[in-house]
Amino acid sequence: MNLILLGAPGAGKGTQGKNLSETYRIPQISTGDILRANVRSKTQLGVKAREYMDKGVLVPDDVVVNMVVDRIQQEDCVNGFILDGFPRNLNQAEVLESTLKKMGKKIDFAIGIDVERKELVRRLSGRRVCRKCGASYHVIFNPPVNIGMCDKCDSEIYQRDDDKEETIGARLKVYEEETFPLIEYYTGKGLYRSVDGIGSVDRIKKSITDAIAKGSDNS
Ligand code: AP5
Ligand code: MG
Repeated sequence: MNLILLGAPGAGKGTQGKNLSETYRIPQISTGDILRANVRSKTQLGVKAREYMDKGVLVPDDVVVNMVVDRIQQEDCVNGFILDGFPRNLNQAEVLESTLKKMGKKIDFAIGIDVERKELVRRLSGRRVCRKCGASYHVIFNPPVNIGMCDKCDSEIYQRDDDKEETIGARLKVYEEETFPLIEYYTGKGLYRSVDGIGSVDRIKKSITDAIAKGSDNS
């Protein structure tokens, strides 16, 4: 099964993607995580991407598209994948579709996680992430047991540069202008399913797996 997780910054794509990846045993592919790993190791791609990420705008399509095209051709994607944060505009969606077609594959569902703006800002501004294992926390909703340390691997947790208040606004604007139109695009193809992104992580996951099970019955 090939899934896309759509949703604004902070909607819970990463949280749900990780969870669904364990349930369906297919990899979660987060373009944001791949880009951040490149920024950390100061690769050529990372140095270029950082300029855009720090401003909260999209990294140029050619960079991201090549990254994803390479990734979905890897062996662990034979049974499917979960795309988190890609596609993010119509061009990326079209390139994805034609690439998959050449591979004899297709997208099965595009799941939209729906969260209101006020809550998105609350989630993003309080998010903390583990430097080592990537586990995600929230200073109020999901704090680690020991302040500043990851519960899972004891490493330091930090605030993403683009989670500072001044960048959050730019990211939400980019989402509205460039990514939001994908809802119409995937609705037109009969692939879009929307879930309410407010509530417990488990409840939202159940809404997603239910929508997939229901959609699979109909096909
Ligand atoms: P990316 O890393 O994809 O960031 P994003 O889309 O802004 O989304 P986030 O990762 O911030 O949020 P999320 O939906 O994953 O939420 P999460 O689960 O963490 O992209 C970063 C940058 O990279 C972009 O700005 C761009 O520059 C570049 N980029 C990436 N992809 C690109 C592409 N395709 N093209 C071009 N450029 C690209 O949850 C958020 C917080 O809420 C956490 O603290 C979590 O614990 C909490 N939370 C989650 N679920 C719940 C819940 N149910 N209740 C309460 N709290 C919750
Ligand atoms: Mg994420």
